Amino acid sequence: MREAHLDAVGRVDPERLWRRLMEMARIGALPGGGVNRAAFSAEDIAARKRLVSWARALGCSVAQDAIGNLFIHRAGTDPRAAPVMTGSHMDSQPRGGRFDGIYGVLAGLEAIEAMERAGVRTRRPVEVVAWSNEEGGRFQPCTMGSAVHTGAKQLGEFLSVTDNDGVALGDALARTLAAMPDLEQRERKAPAAAYIEAHIEQGPLLELEGATIGVVTGIQGLRWFNVEITGETAHAGTTPLAGRRDALREAIDAINALRELTRDETDTVRFTIGRVLVSPNSPNSVPSHVLFSVDVRHPDAATIERLGSAVEPAVRSAVRRCSVAVNPTLTDDPCTFDPGVVAAVERAARTLDLPFRRMPSGASHDAMYMARVCPTGMIFVPCERGVSHNEAENAKPGDLAAGARVLAAALLELAD
Ligand code: GLV
Ligand code: MN
Ligand code: MN
Repeated sequence: MREAHLDAVGRVDPERLWRRLMEMARIGALPGGGVNRAAFSAEDIAARKRLVSWARALGCSVAQDAIGNLFIHRAGTDPRAAPVMTGSHMDSQPRGGRFDGIYGVLAGLEAIEAMERAGVRTRRPVEVVAWSNEEGGRFQPCTMGSAVHTGAKQLGEFLSVTDNDGVALGDALARTLAAMPDLEQRERKAPAAAYIEAHIEQGPLLELEGATIGVVTGIQGLRWFNVEITGETAHAGTTPLAGRRDALREAIDAINALRELTRDETDTVRFTIGRVLVSPNSPNSVPSHVLFSVDVRHPDAATIERLGSAVEPAVRSAVRRCSVAVNPTLTDDPCTFDPGVVAAVERAARTLDLPFRRMPSGASHDAMYMARVCPTGMIFVPCERGVSHNEAENAKPGDLAAGARVLAAALLELAD
């Protein structure tokens, strides 16, 4: 690594990074130590404002696009060169942790700050992006901001999606965009030269093996569905069981059929029903309507395709008296990251003398969509016991800083 680059990497400051992480963790803080910063909520807006103020203090310009993705731009010396991008997301799960997503955004900001303090100019611009609605906890599906940015989806497909309170995404997004009217508006932009996302691992492997850096090789495939089962409400005390069209009873049968479908001795298939809405949701009324989500994942393309195709038939065969609608909300095949970016991340870890291992990602990330449009890779750092999507999510300041150093080193290499 060049002397100037090594100097910049050395200026990644563990305390500054930790301080910013803890400041963000106060926005939407929960009593159990985690955060609830739902996409396009007041808390999301507060986090956006904080990020923009930090970026501007570093002399960066900030733009936002039509779905609210934020782009922090540090100019390069070649005005025609495509940027090297990094980033992640600032929204959280409803009972999320302090690191999922926000770490990748603040690690990117830290890398820029280190470059700035070392006085290093790169040929290419370096951009930190905060993607909108990565989690999909409030508005489904997940990874929406990167899907729209890369052209995989159109914003119009999502505007009428509603949250559990019936608020439309289009209205929440409009309030979010209006909260920072002074930001430069950016529409579809020139492609990036490369994208690297830093993230906590969200699994136990790095900690178990005593490795500090995960050099991520790709992301497993996933399928999301919303299943709606419609029956008829009735009096719980008087209506004979034989005559009922009980939507919840049939939803349970459907879920059991999906459990059979996804049974796997090797414990490789991931199957989750994470969201269930029941109407009228009263103890003494037979449920007339149930909506539940299905999340199925597998690293093998043929297997996830087979499982995804079998979801609707499995549900239909289990439901007898109610009507059924099965709507796919996300269809992402497994992705393999660019060998050149993977090698750059590995080179950075080796140069900085950090123990690393190559590994795939079980969780999904915006890097999945970026990998379709530019050379892409990811950096993982350990998190305590692999716990994530949980208020107890935790990570060590030293590991978080190590990941930011690897990020800075890889960005510098790719931007020069
Ligand atoms: C992202 O949080 C995912 O669901 O993998
Ligand atoms: Mn995340
Ligand atoms: Mn997450």
